[in-house]
Amino acid sequence: MSLEIKTIQPFPAQRTAIVTGAGAERGIGRRVVRKLVSEGWSVAAADIDGAATEAFAAEITAELPEGSTQKVVGVGVDISDQAAVDAAFARIDAELPPVVALVNLAGIPSPHSIFEITSEIWDKVMNVNGKGTLLMTQAAAKRMIDGGVGGRIVNTSSITALDGGGTFSKTGYAAAKAAVQGLTRGTARELGKHGITANVILPGPIDTDIMGGTLTDERKAGMSSNIPLERVGQPEEVAGLISFLVSEDSSFVSGTSINVDGGKHMH
Ligand SMILES: NC(=O)c1ccc[n+]([C@@H]2O[C@H](COP(=O)([O-])OP(=O)(O)OC[C@H]3O[C@@H](n4cnc5c(N)ncnc54)[C@H](O)[C@@H]3O)[C@@H](O)[C@H]2O)c1
Repeated sequence: MSLEIKTIQPFPAQRTAIVTGAGAERGIGRRVVRKLVSEGWSVAAADIDGAATEAFAAEITAELPEGSTQKVVGVGVDISDQAAVDAAFARIDAELPPVVALVNLAGIPSPHSIFEITSEIWDKVMNVNGKGTLLMTQAAAKRMIDGGVGGRIVNTSSITALDGGGTFSKTGYAAAKAAVQGLTRGTARELGKHGITANVILPGPIDTDIMGGTLTDERKAGMSSNIPLERVGQPEEVAGLISFLVSEDSSFVSGTSINVDGGKHMH
């Protein structure tokens, strides 16, 4: 029996990263899109708020240097709906270079306690955070396999998955974000033979509008008290980690969970 030595394939110059959750103005997704565009990626900026993400993509496109061959396309999609995901990928196939990376950032919180969470809310939280990540992974991974150069998948959990509840979310969110960790490990195990890596990030409190409004300084101070760096994080600090995880430099990093939480959890 001959032993096949797998080689690392360089990424093509023209390559696409899909970033979900790019609709929110102060969200992590937009920071990631900006960072990846600055690093040469074409980007499908996906979000359930199609109008917001299309306007954002137009803004980024207008900022591209003259003669740039990069493309930035806003794609409206409910990631938890198979038909919507199929339609989104039909557009991505038609309008963008080959898919090499998928960054699953779209997610929803749930402030409901164990007795407050209804069956409907549970399903929605699991569907968006969990099933949505799976549907996007299935569609993107097929394209990565066809592309033949491997790929990068980055999923988003939360330190709430470790704590069982957090500053803005409780049991349902913790369960869904823990599911994302298991999903990532399965993805890494099953797709590794194709040169595809899958990793999951666990942000601590990040200064976005996920809680429905800008964090007050008082709230930030309260959240910072048990963080060694004594502050909440900024979206660009999460974008920096994601930029590494989708790069060629992370080619032997797979199946791992990385906290981006100012040292709140050490393991
Ligand atoms: N901000 C934090 O403190 C924090 C901490 C831990 C984990 N996270 C996770 O990081 C990710 C990004 O968080 P954020 O703070 O930027 O959130 P955000 O609320 O600012 O942005 C989330 C985006 O996801 C989109 N979205 C929601 N449901 C969708 C669906 N069904 N299909 C497509 N798009 C959908 C929203 O429209 C929004 O644009 C989320 O998965 C979140 O759970 C955030």
